[in-house]
Amino acid sequence: MNQKTLLLIIAVFLSYNLWAQNKEIIATMDSQTAAHYKNSHPSEIDIVKTSNGISAVLLTEKMTQILRMESPVHGPQFMVAKSLQEASAVLNFSPKENQVQNFTITEPGLVYDFLDAVSQTHIENTILDLQNYGTRYHTKSQATQSVLDLKQKWDTMILASSRTDISTRLVTHAGSPMPSLILTIEGNSEPSEYVIIGGHIDSISWNNDDAPGADDNASGIASLTEIVRVLLENKYQPSKTVEVMAYAAEEIGLVGSAEIAADYKSNNVNVVSYLQLDMTGYNGSVEDVYILDDWYSSSALNQFLASLMDTYNSSGAHQFTYGFSQCGYACSDHASWALNGYPASMPFEAKLGEDNPFIHTPDDLFSVIQNGEHAVKFTKLGLQYIVEAAKGQKLNTSDFIQDKLTIYQRNHMLFYRFSGDDAIETIAMYDMNGRKIRTFGSVQEGFISIENIQQGIYVVVFNTITSQQLMKKILIY
Ligand code: BES
Ligand code: ZN
Repeated sequence: MNQKTLLLIIAVFLSYNLWAQNKEIIATMDSQTAAHYKNSHPSEIDIVKTSNGISAVLLTEKMTQILRMESPVHGPQFMVAKSLQEASAVLNFSPKENQVQNFTITEPGLVYDFLDAVSQTHIENTILDLQNYGTRYHTKSQATQSVLDLKQKWDTMILASSRTDISTRLVTHAGSPMPSLILTIEGNSEPSEYVIIGGHIDSISWNNDDAPGADDNASGIASLTEIVRVLLENKYQPSKTVEVMAYAAEEIGLVGSAEIAADYKSNNVNVVSYLQLDMTGYNGSVEDVYILDDWYSSSALNQFLASLMDTYNSSGAHQFTYGFSQCGYACSDHASWALNGYPASMPFEAKLGEDNPFIHTPDDLFSVIQNGEHAVKFTKLGLQYIVEAAKGQKLNTSDFIQDKLTIYQRNHMLFYRFSGDDAIETIAMYDMNGRKIRTFGSVQEGFISIENIQQGIYVVVFNTITSQQLMKKILIY
């Protein structure tokens, strides 16, 4: 072998090595995790900057594979960034309280109607449909197909509702061949304010040809689809604009939601709140719903979620319980919204560590979660959230037709007179926390007894035989 050949071999060897170690993936991760891997794999990771317990890092392709493999169940634990600027935005992120809406709970009549309409069977069928793609890994054709089919499913519901103020659109991405899907219900009086709910539809596994993703996250998409069905079949009309989103490529680093949230931010879209449903199927803990209350969650929105459950789910037919838990890192798409300054929250299926142990494997199957009972609770919470967050802050239409309904109180009786073609069929009373305190079925007499009701302010909801609802606020004295 002459010297030239030897030099050539050395040159090829060196450049191969340089290529192999090319740390071209920019990401952020927990600073302790970063330090740990810098120690064990010094040539696969560079730590660029650390602040607030998060590090911006440069990773080799090999390092990302190792990270994915070493924590096959609880995800890769890093978040890909497009640039170092984007990564430092993550580092500089502090859970500042963005201008948060003044959340109130005032719509029990509508909410209870919607809660009664939730169907467990529908949810179960959607989970099975999605699991049957075999994989929804973002680069596979089945993943894109699942989004197109979901669009078709939502479009069919829109068509059946004959509404022109509801539409769907596909969003294409720079970071994935898979599109995301967005359904929009235009707000009828405050359309520039957005109330959004979403979840990811892609899946991942150590064998990406076999990634059924039933719980992660067919369950969330099934909850969202049932929310859409209930809203549309009940002719729901929000004051603010409501959007339902199914994201591409969450499992490789929140890619779909990151692009959409950044786009909304750059267009100055006023998102008043965002709710993420990711994993709603597995009932693994003492309480039913766990509100994540770490860095990427809005505490005001979390408080609102807790109040919603105190009001609507503390007793009766829609009862379930809740607690709080933490992911500790940007574990799902709500983080994309939080990082763009929007109030975001995520109610989760279990306490962290007690969640479904089969996610990100070929065994994330419907048979593990067995039924849609747990997902029903998240569907209900999602409906409660939408109705109460997307209502108008101004007078709504029923305030204008109330002159058709006159009431007065005497001797612990509430008398009412309704002048319309319609007639009152049932009456319900709610306290100021939104708790239903009385229902009166088939009332035709023109009065109800309000004896034994404590002094205070109440909302009385009159339901007519043609399903109109009229409300009166009354002071019982
Ligand atoms: N559904 C999971 C998030 C999750 C899993 C939350 C278990 C709580 C418990 C999500 O799909 C996911 O896998 N996220 C990744 C992070 C993401 C940036 C790739 C994760 O958890 O590592
Ligand atoms: Zn996942």
